[in-house]
Amino acid sequence: MPSIAVIGAQWGDEGKGKITDYEAERADMVVRYQGGSNAGHTIKVGDEVFALHILPSGIVRKGVVNVIGNGVIVDLISLDREIAEVEARGRSVEGLRISDRANIILNWHRLLDGAEERFRGGRTVGTTGKGIGPCYSDKIARSGIRMGDLLDPALLAERLDTVMPMKLKVMEVLNVRLAQTRDELYSELLAYGKRYGRYITDTSVLVNEALDEGKNVLFEGAQGTMLDIDHGTYPYVTSSNCIAGAICTGAGVGPKRLDEIMGVLKAYTTRVGAGPFPTELRDEVGERFLNVGGEFGTTTGRPRRCGWLDLLVVEHAARLNGLTQFAVTKLDVMNDLRRIKVAVAYEIDGRTVKRFPANPKMLERAVPVYEELDGWAGWRPEETMEIVRGGYDALPREMRAYLEYIERCSKVPVRIVSIGKGREETVRR
Ligand code: IMP
Repeated sequence: MPSIAVIGAQWGDEGKGKITDYEAERADMVVRYQGGSNAGHTIKVGDEVFALHILPSGIVRKGVVNVIGNGVIVDLISLDREIAEVEARGRSVEGLRISDRANIILNWHRLLDGAEERFRGGRTVGTTGKGIGPCYSDKIARSGIRMGDLLDPALLAERLDTVMPMKLKVMEVLNVRLAQTRDELYSELLAYGKRYGRYITDTSVLVNEALDEGKNVLFEGAQGTMLDIDHGTYPYVTSSNCIAGAICTGAGVGPKRLDEIMGVLKAYTTRVGAGPFPTELRDEVGERFLNVGGEFGTTTGRPRRCGWLDLLVVEHAARLNGLTQFAVTKLDVMNDLRRIKVAVAYEIDGRTVKRFPANPKMLERAVPVYEELDGWAGWRPEETMEIVRGGYDALPREMRAYLEYIERCSKVPVRIVSIGKGREETVRR
């Protein structure tokens, strides 16, 4: 702090929700800057579990201002549902602020997401089906509807009448039907404007003022580096930039505003959806990560593909984000493994490759070169807090060796170690 970014270092689902919540203890403001309700951030507070998709993770903390920045695409149905859920559990959303420049996910985006997947001839991306790709495409094509438009009936009418005929034509070609007339959609959007008007504002001004005042601002990433539209495993990626650079455009702050950039790194690797994953395991270790780690999507419930830690991914993330520290999560899931493997290179067509390549076909042929490290004997769940109280030095020796190995290879220090789901099951070094 004062400003810190929390970024996924792999394919998302690294435990960013938990780490953001942990860091949010010191935050005055939590800012989402990209992605939409495709994100799934799980937070455990005591016995309560919150699965957030669109609301920033600071919403479960009292007194935090939670900002949905202009780079986020807002799913109003998700937003409605999530606000109702958190309010029903005694949390207030009064501190919520939504950028007037944020684009909105409309029904045609959801329909077109499904249609595009169907027309990909079997080579689906495996999207979350939330309309993410079509909504970002429309934003870039200047055919989006923005949160601020909901507050100006004349502007909204003009935008709908410009955009909707084009979308209807595209839907006709792709054989999908919108069960809503122009007037129904117009009234629905105006009603949302009335409901959310008090939250909609120029959030860039808000965030910059907070930074000027020396407040602690946390930028909460969604998805992960390997799902970044430019630097991820294209085309098996999400439709936004997920790396730290996206904070500037997606929250409206200058590049010098970031003090710390924390990469959240799961101790092993997972991904959901299709696409290359060189260290994927289809054996009992992979099964163990799936079942012990509870590796089922927060947003779609799909089982995640699981594998060993990949240092090419780690290097890619450290470089692209300019990481200044790591939070390593889910180390408890690896308890009692006798040996642990870490990929340090790939063999591709007889060549040794040490940087993560762009070509998905090459990646499919990549054979990981592994180094092996000793595993650690685990602890009983009731002993976890004893270890936490003992701090970093109380962690098993082999676990520390694993963490220090990651540090040596990446040149990024590990500052937070997560050894359980709960907020308190975390060691700060
Ligand atoms: P989309 O973001 O729905 O377009 O999906 C594109 C790809 O990103 C798919 O492989 C999804 O499974 C993946 N994806 C999107 N959001 C997340 C996330 O929050 N965690 C993990 N994977 C995600």
